[in-house]
Amino acid sequence: MADYRLEASWSPVEGSFGRLTFTLFNLSAEPLSNFTLAYTSLTRVADEHVAKGAALKRRVANFHEFSPPDGLTIPPDGSWQFTVEGLANGPKHVTAGIKSAYLTLADGRHVPIGFGDLMLDGAERGALPVLLPKGEVSEPFSLLPWPLSLSMRPEEIPPVTLYPAHGSRSEDVKAVATVLALYQRLFPAHNVPFSLHPVKGGRQIRFKAESSIMPAAYELRFNAHEIILATDDAAGRFYGLISVAQLLHGARQDAETFQFPDFGDIADQPRYAWRGCHLDVSRQFYPVADIERLIDILAWNKLNIFHWHLTDDEAWRLEINAYPELTDIGARRGPDEILLPQLGDGAEPRSGYYTQDDVRRIVAHAGTLHVEVVPEIDIPGHSAATLFSLPQLVDGQEAPDSYRSVQGYPNNALNPAVDFTYEFLGKVFDEVVALFPSDYLHVGGDEVPHGSWLASPACKALMEKEKIADTAALQSYFMRRIKAMLSERGKKLVGWNEVSQGGGVDRDDTLLMAWEKPEVGIELAGEGYDIVMTPGQAYYLDMAQAEGWGEPGASWAGFTPPEKTYAYEAEGELPEELRERMRGIQACIWGENLVSRAYFNRLVFPRLPAVAEAAWTPCLRKDWQRFAAIVRMWPTL
Ligand code: ACM
Repeated sequence: MADYRLEASWSPVEGSFGRLTFTLFNLSAEPLSNFTLAYTSLTRVADEHVAKGAALKRRVANFHEFSPPDGLTIPPDGSWQFTVEGLANGPKHVTAGIKSAYLTLADGRHVPIGFGDLMLDGAERGALPVLLPKGEVSEPFSLLPWPLSLSMRPEEIPPVTLYPAHGSRSEDVKAVATVLALYQRLFPAHNVPFSLHPVKGGRQIRFKAESSIMPAAYELRFNAHEIILATDDAAGRFYGLISVAQLLHGARQDAETFQFPDFGDIADQPRYAWRGCHLDVSRQFYPVADIERLIDILAWNKLNIFHWHLTDDEAWRLEINAYPELTDIGARRGPDEILLPQLGDGAEPRSGYYTQDDVRRIVAHAGTLHVEVVPEIDIPGHSAATLFSLPQLVDGQEAPDSYRSVQGYPNNALNPAVDFTYEFLGKVFDEVVALFPSDYLHVGGDEVPHGSWLASPACKALMEKEKIADTAALQSYFMRRIKAMLSERGKKLVGWNEVSQGGGVDRDDTLLMAWEKPEVGIELAGEGYDIVMTPGQAYYLDMAQAEGWGEPGASWAGFTPPEKTYAYEAEGELPEELRERMRGIQACIWGENLVSRAYFNRLVFPRLPAVAEAAWTPCLRKDWQRFAAIVRMWPTL
């Protein structure tokens, strides 16, 4: 038990974002004096605020540090209380309170503090609904995503295992071995679905190449003696094998509900080519084993893009040999580090980044599972960690704190008028291109704050010279140069929807992700961009799943029950003539609230498999009750 504990509550106040009340309890045997209190919280204190019983000493983004009144001593078993009014945003859920806290003592030591949920004072907390019903199926087959078409007769007793027919080609046997190993990683305590050697009571899989079958598509033909898997490419074969593994998994897990087919067939193909999942590793760091497991989960759900958000304000997580500062400084946060604690960091410094060897291993792992890794270097905004690591990137004449991001970071955008910006990015791209075989490189482009760069003399001179009117046009100037740098390196540009602002970039070989709201995707497609739909209102898996205060998660895009994520049709409003612009859909996993594995799993599942089914299965084949019945047997991180 910690020697100190901090409790926080929030009460609504008419006409403002309300009031926070903090109480620090001294549970130690010694009096406490001469200290400051630091905490991280997504409910930020605004510049204009009134603190009673304390004074705000420092705030950077979600990091806050308060000093008690001069001479305050908290005796053993005593407490100190203070209140703050004047918040930058209003909390809607328990997780909007303290995410980490510590004391700094007079001798410079940092001491951890226990804390809990943000309590709600004087308002209805709201009920917490059941998010996932028990579900029911009309056909007893555990397939998720559900196939395009299927007509099968179930059998009472599933085969003991499945094995490649005698004479199968080496590549077919290896594909079985790959899916077998995937299954063993995901379900290490279950019986294996495959054997490479024939087994009595098992059933053989006979592989057939059929050129009439589409890329990534497969057909399975079942009878009492064998299963024929017909495909025209390795991806189709992989998905067909995943399907038979899923069928056997359900038949063994829940034999009351699910069975294995002994006759009939499946003809299946994905609805969209881009079936993505993004992961923010800047706010929270995930070790290599977690990344590999997430990729395993994507593959099991037939998702095929892992969008790896490697940099943001809070940290830079990719080893770049040309600039070791990026990870020496930019991947380390702590009370005495250049990057202050954020979003769950406490008294101990924390660091984490992926070495280039880690990346090669992850990309290779994903490749065997038909998952493409698309790296993101988020520029020009969201670059606080980069700018702290490499101060040469800053226009030294720019007024400090001349603009702020929505997350509260001052001056956090790479400067388009500083020559070193392009030299730096050129070297970063060279290394990124050598690591990631994907045709795509994601370069962010999101949330450049209004008014960015306008207090930079270098930008003013550039704007005059190039006849650039405002921040948006300056961003477009920057993005066009970045696009040319990517083209020189043989890469296509992917970005968030704001890349289109201020004139945008060349549409050829550009793919934009519509995140702010669905209408943005329609506009972008109308402007000639290829798009991936990832609207916050349906596919941001960090959003709370219900309105009630007790439900964890973010709230800026409302709340998103799994059923809404499942049912959402991103194509919905897209006019027929723009449909071909839509390449697919994607789930996004932002890390602000995912301070533990428990929160990760509670928020990401089952919404990630819901996006997977929406990405693969035609609208008319979706069935929420069936999904609910199957998804409870699916893996979590
Ligand atoms: C984003 O959510 N800023 C892309």
